[in-house]
Amino acid sequence: MTRDRPQSIVVLTGAGISVESGLPTFRGADGLWEGHRVEEVASPDGFAREPLLVHRFYNLRRAALHQVEPNAAHLALARLEREWQGDFLLITQNVDDLHDRAGSQRLLHMHGELRRARCTHCGASSSWVTALSPQTACPSCVQTGGMRPDIVWFGEVPMHLEACFTALSQADLFVAIGTSVTVYPAAGFVSLVAARSETRTLELNQEATGNPLFHEVRLGRATETVPELVAELLA
Ligand code: APR
Repeated sequence: MTRDRPQSIVVLTGAGISVESGLPTFRGADGLWEGHRVEEVASPDGFAREPLLVHRFYNLRRAALHQVEPNAAHLALARLEREWQGDFLLITQNVDDLHDRAGSQRLLHMHGELRRARCTHCGASSSWVTALSPQTACPSCVQTGGMRPDIVWFGEVPMHLEACFTALSQADLFVAIGTSVTVYPAAGFVSLVAARSETRTLELNQEATGNPLFHEVRLGRATETVPELVAELLA
């Protein structure tokens, strides 16, 4: 590919793309929720120790999805996927459903989804939009006591990594949007693309991460920088 006409695009989004829809980032705040560190709540140990607290944390966030809408950045990425002539994959670290509701289809939720629940007895994952509790019966095996949010907690293996690495190995344009690139393996994606010649890596962020592997950084709010980039790519 020549520098100005990439063929294969991989986009990675983080919490920053959903801020203007009204969903807070992880590190923007003081990283606490009701006095608990998020890393404690979003962990297998935290769930084993205080299942009701963890269920409440996710039940509140799942319910909050009804109050928010995709923003111009989510919609611009869905348009890019529809109109782009080459390969395209959107990988998100976000567990909200805003990319889905914006119309993105070639989309991988590597940290899981608020709107899915998984049974620890039979392993079945189900679409879920209401509250979960230890009394919730699994839609597949009907057992109770085993339903958990289908979200990747700290210390667990992210989802769809094989597909992510395959796409990254073929990408000639990598765009990271609204992520602090501090949590691996997502934080390492840029190095997989930047390591090859004839590739372009771009960071769209409110504050620059300072990661030198990004060839270009565009600062600003996602609802401005993302539609601008998509218009450029589709011109
Ligand atoms: N437009 C663009 N970027 C923004 C905006 C905005 N309106 N608001 C905030 N940002 C940027 C911040 O500058 C920051 O770089 O979004 C990023 C948010 O970073 P984090 O809060 O660390 O979120 P994220 O990178 O998605 O976290 C990665 O860590 O907590 C775990 O699993 C969780 O998926 C999450 C992962």
